[in-house]
Amino acid sequence: MTAFDELVAQLDPAMAVVTTASGNERAGCLIGFHAQCSIEPRRYAVWLSKANHTYRVALHADYLAVHFLAQGDLEVARLFGTVSGDRVDKFSQCAWDAGPGGVPLLVSCPNRFVARRVSMLDEGSDHACFVVEPMEAWTAGDLQPLRLSRAKVLDPGHEAQDRPAPETLRAD
Ligand SMILES: Cc1cc2nc3c(=O)[nH]c(=O)nc-3n(C[C@H](O)[C@H](O)[C@H](O)COP(=O)(O)O)c2cc1C
Repeated sequence: MTAFDELVAQLDPAMAVVTTASGNERAGCLIGFHAQCSIEPRRYAVWLSKANHTYRVALHADYLAVHFLAQGDLEVARLFGTVSGDRVDKFSQCAWDAGPGGVPLLVSCPNRFVARRVSMLDEGSDHACFVVEPMEAWTAGDLQPLRLSRAKVLDPGHEAQDRPAPETLRAD
């Protein structure tokens, strides 16, 4: 499907970090698969790889936060996109505040919204779609997004086909 891959790559999507929490467990990863998907009521969809720690925490979470990255946020993208919460506590390496249900709100990413999870669609592919209802949003104004064309230098912490072995997962 080379032509398809070339076609969609030209859309050069804006990058975001989605965070979530369930119980005492926090998670977050870099995403390129996300979009508004309803106007009234407002809905937003994020697609999470089933390989990711974030997906597994999101399955049990009530709230997600979506942080839109600016052009200067490549290091945030590196933290959330190249290492996995299966092995590293990303939230010990960045400043965050606890939002509803403990969902981490990244202090360095002021263009963000927090949302309630309303549904999840798993149609058998390697990503699952989480549909959320925005509750509160913040904007710092003139957002110049970090786009895939810059973020593609990063190697994902998990490839989409990964299924981590239990003995490699963090014990805490
Ligand atoms: C450029 C780029 C785009 C990515 N897009 C997505 C995405 O849309 N959805 C997703 O679940 N993971 C995506 N990833 C992969 C995760 O961000 C990455 O595997 C991360 O380390 C997973 O962390 P976790 O295991 O702590 O959730 C992307 C990674 C990169 C580098």
